[in-house]
Amino acid sequence: MSAEPTPVRDPRLLGQTVVVIGGSAGIGLETARAARAEGADVVLTGRTPDRLARAAAEVGAVSTATFDAHDLGDLEGFFEGLQAIDHVMVTAGRPYYSTLAEMDFDQARRGLYEHPVMMLAVARYAAPLVRPGGTLLFMGGTGGRRPGVGMAVIGAATAALPALTANLAVEVAPVRVNLIAAGFVDTPLSASLLGEKLDARRGQLRETLPIARVVGPADVAELAVHLMTNTALTGATYDVDGGQQLVPG
Ligand SMILES: NC(=O)c1ccc[n+]([C@@H]2O[C@H](COP(=O)([O-])OP(=O)(O)OC[C@H]3O[C@@H](n4cnc5c(N)ncnc54)[C@H](OP(=O)(O)O)[C@@H]3O)[C@@H](O)[C@H]2O)c1
Repeated sequence: MSAEPTPVRDPRLLGQTVVVIGGSAGIGLETARAARAEGADVVLTGRTPDRLARAAAEVGAVSTATFDAHDLGDLEGFFEGLQAIDHVMVTAGRPYYSTLAEMDFDQARRGLYEHPVMMLAVARYAAPLVRPGGTLLFMGGTGGRRPGVGMAVIGAATAALPALTANLAVEVAPVRVNLIAAGFVDTPLSASLLGEKLDARRGQLRETLPIARVVGPADVAELAVHLMTNTALTGATYDVDGGQQLVPG
């Protein structure tokens, strides 16, 4: 008996351009890999030139740009240098965790405002370049939904992002705007935040998560590609946390 031939489908992003702001590591780099595998041209940005160059060579990026995405002048200049694009994935940024006693208020201010303001700026500068059907994709989280000591800034920032996403989706339509809310994802950022506690945290998540495994960047990238290709989706927040918000810890 001969095996059934595997059905061949067209790459889902063939002929499209995906820009990843923060594409040299972690979720952004994995999204770039996934987009390339679906036929997209990718443009990568980051702050560290050699890390960005390595990532760009690995995925075969069409171009790169080195700048801090929180510098809104640089962000505007970057988009001014681009032609038509299809999707923008923004993975730049990191959370600020601190107890009140140890809080640095300048860092707290940045933790509260930097990310939402970057989203506003990306929407203003990128949306005019996005072809019909395209999306702006931003990163939020599910961890910040659970109040706790040291979680005030990330909790407030997390709560703002779905509202911002929904409003931007109305304002820049027909460009679509969506938010991905991740729990723990096994990336260089998680490694740097947890240090030597990383392996213990992975083990705890394997024990406690409903999916009985740790969420990796490929899980988020798969969702990102889906949000790029499903043109019915806009203004919404999509959780990818393996059920982390449903269980203690
Ligand atoms: N990992 C998680 O568990 C998790 C959970 C929920 C939400 N998130 C969010 O998802 C996003 C991506 O996380 P990740 O874990 O993939 O982080 P990551 O491993 O640190 O990768 C972040 C990427 O963005 C670049 N980047 C960071 N800050 C930037 C800036 N200000 N301007 C330009 N590029 C910047 C980094 O390169 P350079 O450092 O060289 O610039 C790197 O390429 C972050 O916003 C994070 O807060 C992560």
